[in-house]
Amino acid sequence: MIKISPSILACDFANLQSEIKKVEDAGVQYLHIDVMDGIFVPNITLGPCVVSAIRKNSNLVFDVHLMITDPIRYIEDFAKAGADIITIHVESTFDVNKAIEKIKACEKKAGISIKPNTKPEIVKQYIDKVDLVLCMTVEPGFGGQSFIPETLENIKAVAEMIKESSREIDLEVDGGISPKNAHLVKEAGANVIVAGSAVFGSSDIPQTVKDLMA
Ligand code: DX5
Ligand code: ZN
Repeated sequence: MIKISPSILACDFANLQSEIKKVEDAGVQYLHIDVMDGIFVPNITLGPCVVSAIRKNSNLVFDVHLMITDPIRYIEDFAKAGADIITIHVESTFDVNKAIEKIKACEKKAGISIKPNTKPEIVKQYIDKVDLVLCMTVEPGFGGQSFIPETLENIKAVAEMIKESSREIDLEVDGGISPKNAHLVKEAGANVIVAGSAVFGSSDIPQTVKDLMA
């Protein structure tokens, strides 16, 4: 089944609680939380205190996407704040294994992510340890960018690795996805679709969620 993970980066932060309620009522499964540090990516967003604040009022699976340098430093903080899945970028640390182990020691699901120009082959060495692989379909850093079609090859390559592993691993895609192009990423093998602007910018969120899942 296709799962939808709306990115709160595109929501109205002045009304965070009601914005999250809207997507929860629309039947999404995950909530995508983009954490940026101004170093790994040029933008700064939010930290563990925001995650623990929204945790109190939501039962969604918190899908925390860490776009930060040396993420191992903050894994425990995000786990304690209420993350369910913690995804780190393979480009952000010298010791991806150690970061995965740390996430697992916190009893959370571990994800790894690759940027559009990172060779998907790097994922292979971690495939027996991760619960989720995130293929970025834009350069990480900002919401509202255009989908990069070349990333479909990364998704296909990772889908093949997951199939070969026979493990249950989410294949998530993130960036520039809307009901118009969602079929492309689904055909390539993705089963978790992140959508920020397409969901929070919609005048009919339940319908958009349905269209993304269809
Ligand atoms: C980009 C973030 C994405 C972004 C998606 O760095 O990781 O999650 O918020 O937003 P849209 O769907 O608007 O591209
Ligand atoms: Zn993201």
